[in-house]
Amino acid sequence: MKEQVTYKGLNFVPYITHTDIKERIKEIAQQIEKEYEGDIPLFICVLSGACPFATDLFREVNLDAEIAYVKLKSYVGTGSTGKVKEMIGLDQEISGRRVIIIEDIVDTGNTMYKLIDDLQAKGPKDIKIATLLHKPEALQKPLNLDYVGFSIPNKFIIGYGLDLDGLARNLQDIYILKENNSSSSSRL
Ligand code: IMP
Ligand code: MG
Repeated sequence: MKEQVTYKGLNFVPYITHTDIKERIKEIAQQIEKEYEGDIPLFICVLSGACPFATDLFREVNLDAEIAYVKLKSYVGTGSTGKVKEMIGLDQEISGRRVIIIEDIVDTGNTMYKLIDDLQAKGPKDIKIATLLHKPEALQKPLNLDYVGFSIPNKFIIGYGLDLDGLARNLQDIYILKENNSSSSSRL
């Protein structure tokens, strides 16, 4: 893990290590195995941010299961635009199926509300949500999250799928925006 990473002139410092992420994923996978024994759940990965989490979680779950990938986007820069686009890319029949939505982060919850609406209309048996990260302070309406990796304060983070305008998704660990971001802070 690096001491600091910089994207678009902003400095980020270590926040959650890859080792801690992997451990938490194992715990969530065990919970899912118990709750879905005898079912063939359909994991729905919300592209692009949830890709590393969805892949690692899916591989950790020792059950017959399927995975699908959908796209929805709501973010420009470091603030939510509040606008959520349509869900695209789901070609599986989900009627009567048990669906687990896999998200990287639930922030205001707008993305998740929209996605649940779109999916409910297709008649699944049930829908649960697994999110690696959650910012409870940012949530705008009550939302029941079934599996949460880490609850975090309302700060901007990057890495392990989370991006700053498309960058930083390939960092193995998660980094948080440094409080004092002045570039002259490195005088030692
Ligand atoms: P929401 O609709 O406000 O809940 O935002 C959810 C989406 O915003 C997530 O799927 C992420 O793509 C993005 N997002 C929210 N918080 C962060 C963050 O701290 N870093 C990077 N992306 C974020
Ligand atoms: Mg996302």
